[in-house]
Amino acid sequence: MSHKNLRIAPTAKTDNTAAPAESLQLDQAALDRAKTQLDDGAVTPSYGPWRDAIVKLLNDSLATELVCVLRYKRHYYTAHGLASPRIAEEFLEHANEESAHADSLAERIVQLGGEPDFSPDTLLARSHADYNEETDLKAMLRANLIAERVAIEAYRQMVTLIGDKDPSTRRLIEQILEQEEEHAEDLADLLRE
Ligand SMILES: [Fe+2]
Ligand SMILES: [Fe+2]
Repeated sequence: MSHKNLRIAPTAKTDNTAAPAESLQLDQAALDRAKTQLDDGAVTPSYGPWRDAIVKLLNDSLATELVCVLRYKRHYYTAHGLASPRIAEEFLEHANEESAHADSLAERIVQLGGEPDFSPDTLLARSHADYNEETDLKAMLRANLIAERVAIEAYRQMVTLIGDKDPSTRRLIEQILEQEEEHAEDLADLLRE
């Protein structure tokens, strides 16, 4: 067999001219504006007009996470006296993870120049998920699964709403969303047992 046949044909030259070069250039005026308004910290002047709206979404999620911490703690301490310590441990683990979510959200709100709202007066009204005082283990699992599914729905909608407006906030929400999905799966598994 002749080696001639094994030669690789030169590939067609890639056409780099398809997109106008201008579309891949940075906005120099925006870079210059970033040198001003230093009090805004991480938020540059080109951030866009949606800062308050995003802070409001984050604050509603902060309220949701705090209500979830309270619900899971309540369930952890009451489930402790019941038959299944494993389920109680799961509630505690979720409570701690919701608390970490609340911390990340509060941190991002401050980074955006907003005020994290921890006010207990309005917590439940602002939360997407409900508090729950069930004492039956199955009813607790069900209430927590409903709360997780509501949180999942809210976070998924936020990812779409935020889109490219604020990639760092979107990434944070996506990370939290992933963990809420794990929580829901854990609870659904326990409910099936
Ligand atoms: Fe959470
Ligand atoms: Fe969760």
